[in-house]
Amino acid sequence: MKKVDDFRLRFGKHELVPIMIGGMGVDISTAELALVAARLGGIGHISDAMVPTVSDRRFKTRFVKEKLKKYKFNVANVDKSVVQFDLTRLAEATRLHVGRTMEAKQGDGLIFINCMEKLTMNSPRATLRVRLAAAMDAGIDGITLSAGLHLGSLALVQEHPRFRDVKFGIIVSSLRALLLFLRKTARLNRLPDYIVVEGPLAGGHLGFGMDWAQFDLKTIVNEIHRYLAQEGLSIPVIPAGGIFTGTDAVEFLEAGAAAVQVATRFTVARECGLPARVQQEYFKASEEDIEVNLISPTGYPMRMLKQSPAIGSGIRPNCEAYGYLLDGSGNCSYIEAYNRELEKHPDGEDISVKDKTCLCTHFRNFDVWTCGHYAYRLKDTTRRLPDGGYALLSAEHIFRDYQFSTEHRIALPEQQN
Ligand SMILES: Cc1cc2nc3c(=O)[nH]c(=O)nc-3n(C[C@H](O)[C@H](O)[C@H](O)COP(=O)(O)O)c2cc1C
Repeated sequence: MKKVDDFRLRFGKHELVPIMIGGMGVDISTAELALVAARLGGIGHISDAMVPTVSDRRFKTRFVKEKLKKYKFNVANVDKSVVQFDLTRLAEATRLHVGRTMEAKQGDGLIFINCMEKLTMNSPRATLRVRLAAAMDAGIDGITLSAGLHLGSLALVQEHPRFRDVKFGIIVSSLRALLLFLRKTARLNRLPDYIVVEGPLAGGHLGFGMDWAQFDLKTIVNEIHRYLAQEGLSIPVIPAGGIFTGTDAVEFLEAGAAAVQVATRFTVARECGLPARVQQEYFKASEEDIEVNLISPTGYPMRMLKQSPAIGSGIRPNCEAYGYLLDGSGNCSYIEAYNRELEKHPDGEDISVKDKTCLCTHFRNFDVWTCGHYAYRLKDTTRRLPDGGYALLSAEHIFRDYQFSTEHRIALPEQQN
């Protein structure tokens, strides 16, 4: 009976345990979580979503306060086009977050950063270039491009001295998306170093429409394997989404996957950034509590717990402090939805916006309880506490369980006194 530990992911001179913890913004996949994966010989991700606010929390910097102070005059204005990120400060925040994480790294594993194209930040190209370049400056091992097709992303940093040394990967949910990306990167003579194939059962934003249930990860992975073989391309393929046990992972590894990307099981790790009270909500969830909805202003469907405080909230858009989803012209579909409701309730009271959410503020405050489809099985991965709650796990326990378990067994944590 094979286990994940019987396989290795090879990246040039690196030989890794083929387990990658996926990026979970905004600081749900913390540096602490990523560092455990690296120490154990796998790959951990931090995220570059809203790094200035993450840096403020981590290092007591004042990036958000500074930006809000500068744009306070605009808070009541519906036009957000003046709200721009200071690129020097953005680079500083990214270098701090990445640099401190890399300094703390131990072991043979790697640390990557998840970089979402949909964080358009009122100036998509300029801000993305700064985020990518600053992470490379600060020594990141790899960059996983996500939430978008990233057709122009690599070109933004092609002159960077580490362009051919940093590992670059792309997350796709179809062969079609991969082909578009490969066509662009061929011009730079720079193939991706790995391809994460994310299926419809993943957490976070989905690369499918609301017909996500019609798709199946294994089918998409096979299609991509066939294409790469036909073209003679040997790029590691890393499936993600709904891989809940070590045995689920082994099935993909035996079928030719180089590694797996997992996330939901780690949402209940002590090292994860979610507050403990929210982690209890994840444990308590039943299958009926999990939905895929369209409230994210990115336009992508997103899976989350129906109890997420972000759903139906009508808070005032907070773009002067955050503003990560403003498109290149200063628009965000939450602002439109909010203003529509404000017209109905001009006193600003009792506003509830059902169709969209202020993703920046709510993610920052851990009010978007996004999760993978199998979050309802998290309760089976731990023990109950005398007070009726569920015991949190160590990231090491979860990682080792993926690495060594067989027959779909899930090891429970040691009984605590
Ligand atoms: C809480 C949570 C937050 C996530 N945030 C992001 C994100 O910011 N960017 C991203 O590319 N993927 C994100 N994902 C997707 C994961 O990185 C991963 O690919 C996927 O969830 C794997 O499936 P699993 O959760 O069933 O193991 C998130 C997933 C979860 C559970």
